[in-house]
Amino acid sequence: MEQFRINGGAKLTGEYELTGAKNAVLPILAATIITGNECKITSCPDLSDVHTMFTILRELGCKITKEADGEVVVDTRPVNSYTIPEHLMREMRSSVFLMGPMIARCGKVTLSYPGGCEIGLRPIDIHLSALRKLGVTIKEAHGFLECTADRLVGDRIVLDFPSVGATENVMLAATAAEGETRIINPAKEPEIIDLQNFLNACGAKVRGAGTGEIVISGKNSYHQVEHRVIPDRIEGGTILAAVAITGGNVILRNAIPEHMSMILSKLKEAGCRIREGRNTVELSAPARLQAVETVKTLPYPGFPTDMQSQFLTLMTVAQGTSVITETIFESRFKYVEELRKMGAKVKVDGRTAVVTGVKQLTGAKVVAKDLRGGASLVIAGLGARGETIVENICHIDRGYDKFEMALRRIGADIRRESSEDRQQES
Ligand code: EPZ
Repeated sequence: MEQFRINGGAKLTGEYELTGAKNAVLPILAATIITGNECKITSCPDLSDVHTMFTILRELGCKITKEADGEVVVDTRPVNSYTIPEHLMREMRSSVFLMGPMIARCGKVTLSYPGGCEIGLRPIDIHLSALRKLGVTIKEAHGFLECTADRLVGDRIVLDFPSVGATENVMLAATAAEGETRIINPAKEPEIIDLQNFLNACGAKVRGAGTGEIVISGKNSYHQVEHRVIPDRIEGGTILAAVAITGGNVILRNAIPEHMSMILSKLKEAGCRIREGRNTVELSAPARLQAVETVKTLPYPGFPTDMQSQFLTLMTVAQGTSVITETIFESRFKYVEELRKMGAKVKVDGRTAVVTGVKQLTGAKVVAKDLRGGASLVIAGLGARGETIVENICHIDRGYDKFEMALRRIGADIRRESSEDRQQES
């Protein structure tokens, strides 16, 4: 297992270039399957989740060639397998949105039930009922889902909850349905708009992403495409939080401020000075942050659940008390017990955490349990007095591209150690 060793206290300052968004590139890579063509994806982040998606696409018969930095060409002409290997489904549960494109392209797919994870049970009932409405037959047995569709027919699909993955699955399956499909109450995240832009660039007809109704016309022909992935708003928010806890200042480049509005507004409430440019965000933090009384995670454009742990970590050293409510996932506070080892004063009751700010955290040995919680322990270590060791950093590598190198570039004292280093030390 690898770990980060962090010496806290240094102010982070400098410039930081955002990479492509994990939660945009994953559904877009899945969507390449419907084109049966060559798709060039640029600004593709180098993340372990992306590598897992490459492995799945290769298992299905696709060819992936890496060109220059952050550029991949996916050739999905040779798809010749219809089963997603169980171990890869376990490795990345979000592969569930391969159902839509595989059904659209091949009319069948078998995959194992994507289990829950550290942040919740992650059911897929909304996905399944929507796909069934389009004409997909789904047999659930022995933990597997066997999906077949002789004929897909467009329909009006109302989502009980604006699920990001379910919206993506239906958009992708509907590209092969006869007639029109309308998705009511879809997710409105920027990543959904990026998926729509990719689909239209390769020949599909999708409109309305980002609004309360997405309309997909089926039965299209596809051509080669080149698509640049939007920047990662959650990576951006994470970096701003890391700078803010150290009282530093940073310019984010390749940013889309509009995608980060709620994050920026809460950081301003916490006392940070924010300047938005066309594709930059500049933050300078006060010596001590102010507690933001209430933060509630909501579907976009609300405060993103993927920034909940990073923001709560900031509040652990703010002046005053903050109440943070997690409305999207049922158990997304597991990282708090690790923050307590560093002196944080947080009371968790179900989906609500009450945070009483202390002057400074103290370094400790802590364990990452999920992607965003793990990144938040790094943020805590950067602001803490003394040394922090964050173990199990494979969780962090799923969603951040060489996180420690990026932080070092803006002045963080952090290094990655493998277990061998640790043995030499002891
Ligand atoms: C996507 O997950 C993101 N992952 C998550 O990011 C993000 O937290 C989430 O959207 C919410 O924004 C990717 O895009 C790869 P949902 P997804 O379906 O699609 C419930 C990260 O850290 N639900 O919108 O799985 C579900 O249990 C990750 O980058 C059902 O009940 O999220 C959850 O409580 C973590 N039934 C809520 O909806 C369903 O059929 C939101 O889930 C589907 C979802």
